[in-house]
Amino acid sequence: MANKSHFNSGHMAINQLKKNGALHSSTITGIASPHTVHGVFIQDAVDFLKALPNSSVQLILIDPPYNLDLDNWDSFHNYLDWAKGWLDQICRVLSDSGNCVIFGGFQYQDLKKGDLLEVLHYTRHETALRFVNLVIWYYKNGMSAHRFFANRHEEAVWLSKTKKYYFDLDSVRVPFDEATKEMYKKDKRLNPESIDKGKNPTNVWEIGRLNGNSTERVGHLTQKPVELIRRFVKALSFEGSIVLDFFAGSGTTGRVCIEERRHSLLVDSDNKLYGYLDKHIRQIKSNLFLPEYSLMKDTNIDTVLEEIALVNQQLPQNSIVKDYRNE
Ligand SMILES: C[S@@+](CC[C@H](N)C(=O)[O-])C[C@H]1O[C@@H](n2cnc3c(N)ncnc32)[C@H](O)[C@@H]1O
Repeated sequence: MANKSHFNSGHMAINQLKKNGALHSSTITGIASPHTVHGVFIQDAVDFLKALPNSSVQLILIDPPYNLDLDNWDSFHNYLDWAKGWLDQICRVLSDSGNCVIFGGFQYQDLKKGDLLEVLHYTRHETALRFVNLVIWYYKNGMSAHRFFANRHEEAVWLSKTKKYYFDLDSVRVPFDEATKEMYKKDKRLNPESIDKGKNPTNVWEIGRLNGNSTERVGHLTQKPVELIRRFVKALSFEGSIVLDFFAGSGTTGRVCIEERRHSLLVDSDNKLYGYLDKHIRQIKSNLFLPEYSLMKDTNIDTVLEEIALVNQQLPQNSIVKDYRNE
C-alpha cells in the first residue's frame, strides 16, 4: 500500500471528484491548479532508471558521488564502470525537449577519483547527449591552500537530448540595478523592454556555499544551496513537468520543485533522505509560503506517474506547458 502523505485538502478533493466522476473547478473555470506530486524512492539509481519509461522526464538534475571517500556511499572500485550504468539511461528517459545537469569538479588530483571531465568525455563519445553549457558555480567562501591556488568554484554541465531543448532565459534573468537601468534607458539604441527584463546571468554564477552553521543546512554532508538548484529548475523545466534527481541526498531538488511547482522524482540509496526532506519542507513552511503538494513514499514509479498524469489532467490544456523550445 502506497504511503501517500497529502499535505493539502486540494488534492484530496480532486481525487474525491474523480471518484464521483465530476470535474474539478480548475477545469471548469480555467484556473490552473498549482498542485504537484513528489515521489520519494529509497533505491539504487540504476535499478530505478531501468524501471522508468522512455521520454518521461523533462529535467534530470544530479550531483553524483565521485569516489571521494566522503562517506560509505562514495567509494567505487572503478568509477566510470559504475557511472556508465546511469549515464547510459539518461537519453532514453528524457523527453525530446529534455535537459540534464550534472554537478561535479575537475580538480580531483587522485586518478582513483571520478570527475566531471571523465563523465563529460563519456557522454560526448558514448551517448547521444549534446553538450550545451558549462556553468561555473563561483563562491567566495572556501578552504585555504598553500601548494596550489585555493579552489573557489565547482562546475555543472548542461546536456540536452536534442537541439530543441527547453530553455526559459526570462525566468532567471538578473535585474539591473536602478542606476544602470536609468543609464541604459537614456540610450535610444537599447530596447526599454529588454532593460526591464534584466540581464542574462551568464555561465558564471556567484552563489555562497553553505557554511556549517547555515540555516539552510538539513544535515547532509554535501547539500547544495537552494538558489543554485532553483536557477536550473526554473530555466530548464516548466510548471507541471517532471524533474528527476537520482542522487537526491537531502532532497534539495525536491524542495525547489515544491516551491517552483514542478513534479519531482527523488531517489537515494540512503533512507536518511526522508528526514532531510522533512526538514527542507519545514523551512519552506517557515517562509510562510507552501504551494499545494503531495509526497508519495514507499510506492512504485508507475503509481507516481499515474498520479502526476491525473493531476496534470486537471489543468486547463493551455496552462500545462508553455513549452518554449530553442529553435
Ligand atoms: C553528493 S550527494 C547529493 C547531495 C544533494 N545534491 C543535496 O543537495 O543534498 C550524493 C548522494 O548520492 C547517493 N548515492 C550514492 N550511490 C547511490 C546509488 N547507487 N543510488 C542512489 N543514490 C546513491 C548518496 O547516498 C548521496 O546522498
